[in-house]
Amino acid sequence: MPEPSAYCDAEYADVDWDSLGFGLMPTDYMYITKCSEDNNFGQGQISRYGNIELSPSAGVLNYAQGLFEGTKAYRKENGHLLLFRPDQNAIRMKMGAERMCMISPSVDQFVDALKQTALANKRWTPPPGKGALYLRPLLIGSGPVLGLAPAPEYTFLIYASPVCNYFKEGSAPLNLYVEEEFDRASLRGTGSTKTISNYAPVLKAQLRAKNRGFSDVLYLDSVTKNNLEEVSSCNIFIAKGNVISTPATNGTILAGITRKTILEIAHDHGYQVEERIVPVDELVDADEVFCTGTAVGVAPVGSITYRDRRIDFKTGSDTICQELYSSLVGIQTGLIEDKKGWVVEI
Ligand code: COI
Repeated sequence: MPEPSAYCDAEYADVDWDSLGFGLMPTDYMYITKCSEDNNFGQGQISRYGNIELSPSAGVLNYAQGLFEGTKAYRKENGHLLLFRPDQNAIRMKMGAERMCMISPSVDQFVDALKQTALANKRWTPPPGKGALYLRPLLIGSGPVLGLAPAPEYTFLIYASPVCNYFKEGSAPLNLYVEEEFDRASLRGTGSTKTISNYAPVLKAQLRAKNRGFSDVLYLDSVTKNNLEEVSSCNIFIAKGNVISTPATNGTILAGITRKTILEIAHDHGYQVEERIVPVDELVDADEVFCTGTAVGVAPVGSITYRDRRIDFKTGSDTICQELYSSLVGIQTGLIEDKKGWVVEI
């Protein structure tokens, strides 16, 4: 393991911080540890970022036995890094591991690994106001299998990349398309699990929508096709008057950490918040629509096209979306006092 001083001999990596999007920019180090099926994860280590060796018959390659997480480290004005609710990612990975018959790191180990990875890659963390260091924990069945079964070995690793806006629109409003041909998740399936196998199946609809000029697709529930679920990479909210609603997490929707945080912030700001079934028909009456996610942040939606009808929403500085975004980012970056114990300074 490299000496900590080797991590930070220059305060910043040589990056054009103004042109960051959400592309992978490899950094110096990653965290990695392995364990066998009848063990717990031992102490991992920080190693140079690079390719990993996998058996062609690894469980993750053959049967998609894998989970991922996403969280961000922000650089504070005082030079320290801030993590946001890292325990929540750890808990979600544990729950996902249970669903996917995998061994997971403990909450403490997960959080400690995040801290180590962020500090090791500190010079890749953008200056305040220019983005964040995205941290990507992965838990994969790395041991070999042939018949369908849990893998005999698991690998937990975390890599990092500096990022800014997720969508190519930057901070401009998104234009979504309601997808009706494909479903994202099935009832009693793995929609609420952050398994890698939930993401490749959305690519076809997403690409088709992008080719037609949309930012992304909005999925409906697979049973009635009447109710909003989520966007490919984020949760969805609608606002009408003082009421902010988001689809309830009924097993098909990812329980986003940003989603949960925004519900709490909105409640604290005096809004009535509702987690419920949200019929697609309510879009026509909504004042605002916005998306939430770790990568996405809080992103305004300018329009949604449903069955060839485009519905437009209020966007701009005088919106609920902007108010909630400013509060969230203020807390995450240390500009607004964290009264909830959400921020971890390292
Ligand atoms: C995140 O928001 O961190 C995610 O994991 C979504 C991913 C598609 C970028």
